[in-house]
Amino acid sequence: MHRQMNIVILTGAGISAESGVPVFRGPDGLWEGHRVEDVATPEAFEANPELVHRFYNQRRAKLLDPAIQPNAAHLALARLEKESAAHVLLITQNIDDLHERAGSENLLHLHGELLKSRCTTCGNVAPLLAETSTSSKCQACGNIGTLRPHIVWFGEMPFHLEEISSALRAADWFVSIGTSGNVYPAAGFVSLASHAGARTLELNLDPSQTSDSFQESRLGPATQLVPAWVNEILG
Ligand code: OAD
Repeated sequence: MHRQMNIVILTGAGISAESGVPVFRGPDGLWEGHRVEDVATPEAFEANPELVHRFYNQRRAKLLDPAIQPNAAHLALARLEKESAAHVLLITQNIDDLHERAGSENLLHLHGELLKSRCTTCGNVAPLLAETSTSSKCQACGNIGTLRPHIVWFGEMPFHLEEISSALRAADWFVSIGTSGNVYPAAGFVSLASHAGARTLELNLDPSQTSDSFQESRLGPATQLVPAWVNEILG
């Protein structure tokens, strides 16, 4: 009997770019007009929590704009998961929910989720569609001013690393889509999968920091490259 094939896919900001969600490392080096250290670190939240709340409130409002929808690349990955005989695990560095909206179910958010809050006192993680501030109340423990975005900031530990490490060790395919390869540990996943014997493929608009680590790199927009690759796999 044949063992089920394992496909592990890593996505980054590039897969959501054509849906209208800006990438992190734009030409100006800023993320939506801010230096990353001013909005995406625990130190920034400590120093200026209102600014950080406001920044993520804006990102959340934008994500909930009806104009922002999953694109052909998100949809193709959801189709792969449903129609392939292989086991497909999708790991995303993105904090948007476009993979879920496209229908992907076996999905891990490495860097957290924009549409969730976390209480720094009781640890409760809750769905979040509204704005938060330093006067927001935790619905679980009732404390005021203890909510933060459920997002992994620089200097914090990404989520699901044990599960991801096992999946990479068992991977037959590792495919990276729309990521610049600047941020570890995600940038190191290709090496782990390679050492475990996986075939490795990169789909990205430009060459990334880690392109040389892949057996194959295809350059172009995700909405073209991803559906084409999924069609190849599904035969
Ligand atoms: P980046 O903004 O660093 O890189 C986006 C990549 O997508 C670049 O290599 C682009 O060439 C590529 N790209 C842009 N448009 C594309 C398109 N239409 N199709 C295909 N590729 C396209 O974003 P990430 O690599 O995701 O972390 O960034 C990684 C992490 O750094 C983020 O998760 C975030 C950030 O700081 C945290 O917040 C912890």
